[in-house]
Amino acid sequence: MRLVAWQPDDLLRRLDDVVSVYGEAMGYRQELLQTRRGYIGAHVRRAGFRAVATLTTDGRLAGFGYGYTSGPGQWWHDQVRSALDDQARRRWLADCFEVVELHVRPVAQGHGVGARQLRALLAMAEGDTVLLSTPEADERKSRAWRLYRRFGFEDVLRDFLFPGDERKFAILGRGLPLVERPVEEAPGIVGI
Ligand SMILES: CC(C)(COP(=O)(O)OP(=O)(O)OC[C@H]1O[C@@H](n2cnc3c(N)ncnc32)[C@H](O)[C@@H]1OP(=O)(O)O)[C@@H](O)C(=O)NCCC(=O)NCCS
Repeated sequence: MRLVAWQPDDLLRRLDDVVSVYGEAMGYRQELLQTRRGYIGAHVRRAGFRAVATLTTDGRLAGFGYGYTSGPGQWWHDQVRSALDDQARRRWLADCFEVVELHVRPVAQGHGVGARQLRALLAMAEGDTVLLSTPEADERKSRAWRLYRRFGFEDVLRDFLFPGDERKFAILGRGLPLVERPVEEAPGIVGI
């Protein structure tokens, strides 16, 4: 498998595959996927957009991730901002990269693809901090949670409700750049 950096047009060319990986990874229904497809198509034009993809040897899409500079006027940014106090806003939102999507097809999960995608995305990201949202889940059992914790993401908000979605989310964050310490100093991040 091959990890590649994608420009906006690379993602748009593979938008059907992106939506299919997203749907398989999250187990979402077809109607919801069509709405998300529209959003993803618009996200590629946002400032600071960065994307990565993992391709199999025969060119199929095994996973992808993308993000952009988080700013006022963006729905997600405004929701998170309204739930933070002034100090937390200054700390997390002043110069922030949002990881918007990070997914791996279920058949390819558990082999380090997600970790490689996240590491590459954060290496390309601009900003002082990185934020993401992920559904609340058992931290020990959820792959996404284990991945984010291994990368040093800490709690910014827990049990957060976005309008129109009854699931609870956590907003997690960490500083940039992502500095990988030598393994002997940080046994908790072996495997990143
Ligand atoms: C979350 C997600 C992106 C992680 O991607 P992934 O490829 O499954 O994750 P990784 O393989 O990097 O890490 C998973 C495991 O593989 C192990 N691993 C890492 N490198 C490895 C390697 N080279 N060989 C074998 N295993 C490896 C890790 O130790 C990790 O083990 P753990 O889960 O028991 O802690 C993916 O599981 C996914 O798409 N999930 C569904 C959608 C989702 O939740 N997305 C995030 C929403 S915000």
